Amino acid sequence: MGKTGRMTDAREPADRRLAAEALAANDPTGWFEPLYAEAAAGSAPVPWDRPDPNPLLVDWFAGHPTPQGTRALVIGCGFGTDAEFVAARGSRTTAFDISPTAIRGARARHPASPVTYQVADLLNPPADWTAAFDLVIESITVQSLPPAVREPATAALRTFLAPGATLLVIADIAGAPLPGPPWPLTPEDIDAIATPDLTPVRVERLPRPDLPGRHRWRAEFRRAAAS
Ligand SMILES: C[S@@+](CC[C@H](N)C(=O)[O-])C[C@H]1O[C@@H](n2cnc3c(N)ncnc32)[C@H](O)[C@@H]1O
Repeated sequence: MGKTGRMTDAREPADRRLAAEALAANDPTGWFEPLYAEAAAGSAPVPWDRPDPNPLLVDWFAGHPTPQGTRALVIGCGFGTDAEFVAARGSRTTAFDISPTAIRGARARHPASPVTYQVADLLNPPADWTAAFDLVIESITVQSLPPAVREPATAALRTFLAPGATLLVIADIAGAPLPGPPWPLTPEDIDAIATPDLTPVRVERLPRPDLPGRHRWRAEFRRAAAS
């Protein structure tokens, strides 16, 4: 029996076990730090950790060279693989994660990094990040939070955008309902990111180069320029 009173299975992956415990305690983000801590102790993998940047992000940058000095923000950066890629493309990059262990890991993996790594909560971000970024990159973090906090998580993404800024969202496409995590994004979730001030530029359903047969959203939005 686990902490929540639910039956546990020794073969259950750590992320599912810890997420179930956190959700039972009504704490949607409460499983990330314990998961990274277990990983640091060598007793669990971080399922989304990978040595190479997200191929859909790499492909997007190939068609969107960013001017030197672009202020970029990487949401839920984990160990920083995507943030390092973004910085190497010339952006002044800030990357944050709710897990202090993840941020320590990112700094340790990239000791000479130009990226500013910071512990922060998407659901309660630093006030001085409001309208402070030209490019905001969200890859599979919103979907790692339960649908109950989808609206505030999406609203927080918008707050970071300076006038004229770009928001790039990469996420799994919802299919048959399954118990999360993750909770992939529906077409309605993607539509709900837009506002009168934040227009969809391109919404794509793309095959995952790293997982044949599976598809992801890659959705680009642009905030209106200041008038
Ligand atoms: C599914 S992982 C995705 C990691 C990375 N973005 C990627 O594409 O591989 C979600 C990450 O977001 C972080 N995270 C979850 N909720 C968060 C929040 N409210 N604020 C900041 N980071 C959060 C987790 O600790 C985890 O590193």
